[in-house]
Amino acid sequence: MTGDESAWLDAAPWGITPRVADRLRATAAEVAREWGVPLSQRIVGGRFSFVAFAGDDAVLKVVPIEDDEADHEADALALLGGDGAVRLLRHDRARRAMLIERARPGDDASGLSEHEAIRVAVSAARKLWRPALSGDPFRWIGDLVPRWLDNAGDHYLVRQAKEIYATMHPSDATLVHGDFHHHNLLRHGDGWVVIDPKPMVGEAEFDVATLLWNPIGHMPTREGVEQWIGAFADAGLDANLLRKWAIVRGTYQGLPLSRGLTTETSPQLRVVRALL
Ligand SMILES: Nc1ncnc2c1ncn2[C@@H]1O[C@H](COP(=O)(O)OP(=O)(O)O)[C@@H](O)[C@H]1O
Ligand SMILES: [Mg+2]
Repeated sequence: MTGDESAWLDAAPWGITPRVADRLRATAAEVAREWGVPLSQRIVGGRFSFVAFAGDDAVLKVVPIEDDEADHEADALALLGGDGAVRLLRHDRARRAMLIERARPGDDASGLSEHEAIRVAVSAARKLWRPALSGDPFRWIGDLVPRWLDNAGDHYLVRQAKEIYATMHPSDATLVHGDFHHHNLLRHGDGWVVIDPKPMVGEAEFDVATLLWNPIGHMPTREGVEQWIGAFADAGLDANLLRKWAIVRGTYQGLPLSRGLTTETSPQLRVVRALL
């Protein structure tokens, strides 16, 4: 989520405005009626969309039109086919509504120790990353990242990130999750599945960065960052590329600074500074 989208977002704590939430709630109620599923209260954790349980086995999610990163969420869930991700049960593209398999018990990876979270994330990632196929609708990271860097403002870290990005040659060979972190990794039966993809085509190393500054409230340290990078390098990824993506993505996600944050307290910028 980038700062310039704030016209449809509330200031901290981040999330959609009450006006957008009301609009999405009305759509959810209409779709739930048509599809014959019950609809519970909105889940407060769904900050960028309307998400509510639809009975014991399903979740109904409506994504705002303003969030173009979510345009292909349903396409990605359909492509993953319930393997490593929750299964897409039903979809209405025009109303941006999805009925999705509910993860049970559904607690997220933020409750795990860092050591366990690393183990679970590496094994979930192996299932998640798929070869991209021609004809897939997903956007290429190489088209998006320069735009996001341009929107990050004028800051020495942005100039540095642009210099690093200029040395990179992003691939389009792999379907990536796009927002892969603890809160989008849920316990399901004996295993773990991802939810909430912002799918793009790119390279696996791109996808690891968001794990480094999560869960919410985590204050990243150099040691922790190196543990994550080491684990994904052991799993076959390029450590140098993991570092470069963490710097580039950390910079445009951390800047411009949200109110109340500094380069010392922004989790994303702590990762960037630990790696420079
Ligand atoms: N399929 C699901 N099964 C169980 N819980 C879910 C599911 N999808 C979403 N949730 C819950 O709702 C919260 C918000 O959903 P998410 O898709 O991540 O929305 P957002 O795009 O707003 O981040 C999640 O953090 C999780 O707690
Ligand atoms: Mg989420």
